[in-house]
Amino acid sequence: MSNTEDLFKKIVSHSKEFGFIFQSSEIYDEGLASVYDYGQLGAELKKNLQNYWWRAMTQLHENVTGIDAAILMHPKTWKASGHVDSFNDPLIDNKDSKKRYRADVLLEDQIARYQKKGKDRNAEELRVALADCLNNNDLNGLQQLIIDHEIACPFSGTRNWTDVRQFNLMFSTQMSATADSGAGELYLRPETAQGIFVNFLNVQKTGGMRIPFGIAQIGKAFRNEIVARQFLFRMREFEQMEMQFFVRKGEEMKWFEYWKNQRMNWIKSLGIPEEKLRWKKHDKLAHYANAAEDIEYEFPFGFKEIEGIHSRTDFDLSRHQEFSGKKIQYFDNEINQNYVPYVVETSAGSDRIFFMLLCNSYKEEKVVDGEKEKIRKYLRLHPALAPVKAAIFPLVNKDGLPETGRKIMDELKYEFRVFYDERDSIGKRYAKQDLAGTPFCFTVDHQTLQDETVTVRHRDDTRQERLKIGTLADFLREKVEIKGLLKSLNV
Ligand code: GAP
Repeated sequence: MSNTEDLFKKIVSHSKEFGFIFQSSEIYDEGLASVYDYGQLGAELKKNLQNYWWRAMTQLHENVTGIDAAILMHPKTWKASGHVDSFNDPLIDNKDSKKRYRADVLLEDQIARYQKKGKDRNAEELRVALADCLNNNDLNGLQQLIIDHEIACPFSGTRNWTDVRQFNLMFSTQMSATADSGAGELYLRPETAQGIFVNFLNVQKTGGMRIPFGIAQIGKAFRNEIVARQFLFRMREFEQMEMQFFVRKGEEMKWFEYWKNQRMNWIKSLGIPEEKLRWKKHDKLAHYANAAEDIEYEFPFGFKEIEGIHSRTDFDLSRHQEFSGKKIQYFDNEINQNYVPYVVETSAGSDRIFFMLLCNSYKEEKVVDGEKEKIRKYLRLHPALAPVKAAIFPLVNKDGLPETGRKIMDELKYEFRVFYDERDSIGKRYAKQDLAGTPFCFTVDHQTLQDETVTVRHRDDTRQERLKIGTLADFLREKVEIKGLLKSLNV
């Protein structure tokens, strides 16, 4: 097994063992495929991550404001946005294994195989041909590429394929029938962006917003992915952190570059090394875009998209104007003109960034323990993102140490997520917190009773120092507040 496959498996099992991620409704058979629940530590980490994004967007940019739109929207929304007609993936089935694939993913995997074998010319030729087929919606062309490149089903090993056909990714549902209107078909939103577009005028007018300005939102999105796989990477229910920035026509490329920069800085501030990140231009532009680039992170299974920056032109607002029959325009008094604004979008996957954080922070280090060498495992999460900020331990369960520990807990708990533990040996308690990513442990010992100091143990280098109990809140404030991360962005 390669190291990267190994890391992937370790992350998946660590996520389950420590309450970060559980398979949805796992007690039934193997659970619901490609749907996941965030456990007790995962929910905290996700909230910290989303809070950091929200504050970076809405507090550091005076011209960005946030909303929280509903998941269910009027069905015409999706006709106008183009999702009913164009939100498709090319699907192919293997007749022997009965497994279903995305034709473009089978071809991308083949490109990766060519690259691995050093066949760069074959890889480049296939990449260009694939982009061509996708741009022209050429399903026969995709089929031919699968035949020409002798692609076999990874399960059956055969090339006994069905035709390639289009598959719409939206989940539909029914709104309950009313006496006069009957049941109506609705969709679970496949992106949060449309909730922002349909509220453009509401926010602009009630908030007195002037172009350029942005509307941010965090929320659920749903896609009936054909091949949902790779853990949190491709899920059927997931969360997006999106921002639509409304600009004058002709200024979109300037803002596109501005937001590319902002978003890359934000991702790096999470502690992700530069060499693990790269930009990728879209070979195939979505139906609404005139420019698009993705930030990719090197997951254990290769570089993959975590966020897209898209120049969406005036496509969405114009289409909503057309389909609703309502004027959706902005009066720009600086140039004395009415127009439909252009849009630059930043669209990040909350779950993919969460997954990236787990991959990036999982560490195994050799340490010497007496005579023996052992492996110390820990999660090197930024303290501002860590689910628990500090754990408080009495060294032993007697002599008044638990009472002092509880007192510290009671002082800190109103401001910080802290955790009290008096079970097991102190070594085991440290190890457990390392695996949860807790950056600090405060240990109350007999010296505490004399001089009111505790041992502060640092997760990353296991260094220990003594601090006065009265200074612990200040110590945590400086290290674990999101404010520190926000300041590092230099916006
Ligand atoms: N509004 C534009 C939009 O939705 P997208 O590239 O389709 O663009 C944006 O999605 C981000 O949402 C992606 O970069 C990814 O992080 C996340 N995402 C998309 N599909 C996903 C899925 N099935 N599972 C998890 N995250 C997904």
